[in-house]
Amino acid sequence: MQRDNKLKTLHEKWLAECTCMLRKTAIQGVPGDGSADAQIVFIGEAPGAKEDKEGRPFIGSAGKFLAEMLESIKMKREDVYITNIVKYRPPENRDPTPKEIADCAKWLEEEIKHINPLLIVFLGRHAMNHFFPDEKISEAHGVVLTSNHFGKIRHFLPLYHPAAALYNGSLRETLKRDFKTIPKILKKLNRG
Ligand code: URA
Repeated sequence: MQRDNKLKTLHEKWLAECTCMLRKTAIQGVPGDGSADAQIVFIGEAPGAKEDKEGRPFIGSAGKFLAEMLESIKMKREDVYITNIVKYRPPENRDPTPKEIADCAKWLEEEIKHINPLLIVFLGRHAMNHFFPDEKISEAHGVVLTSNHFGKIRHFLPLYHPAAALYNGSLRETLKRDFKTIPKILKKLNRG
């Protein structure tokens, strides 16, 4: 089976089997989206209202900002893979609980293992703290973290969440600056 088909099957399995209680209030599950051969996986927090309605991650205002930043480094959505730690919209867009994150964790793990990206980019503290519980986003943003996760050494870049940066000028500039370091990081990782 092709890698993209395998990823589709993985999502179908989890859409049927995920035990996250948010299924009760969300319209639908929002699986990750993009290429199974992506070198970069972006991980956000949880779907918002628009994502819940359409079933695709990052298609609202935060997604538009993410697409603009991708364009600034000459990349398109189709070149990368975009997902969330929690696959169902929390009511009123509240923060996901540790239980909700834990219930969706295996789904995320299987996505990452299947894609096996060179670089994992955290969009915001929730995604970062799932992997690095002791890090603070105000200190870790823009700094590559390297650690053994899911059976191998992986590289991670924490960034501020685009939604948090949308309405805060100084965060926005920091996020844009951090984002622009991605091509250089990838180049270095590609060289090994
Ligand atoms: N914010 C997120 O963290 N994820 C989405 O999919 C949309 C907005």
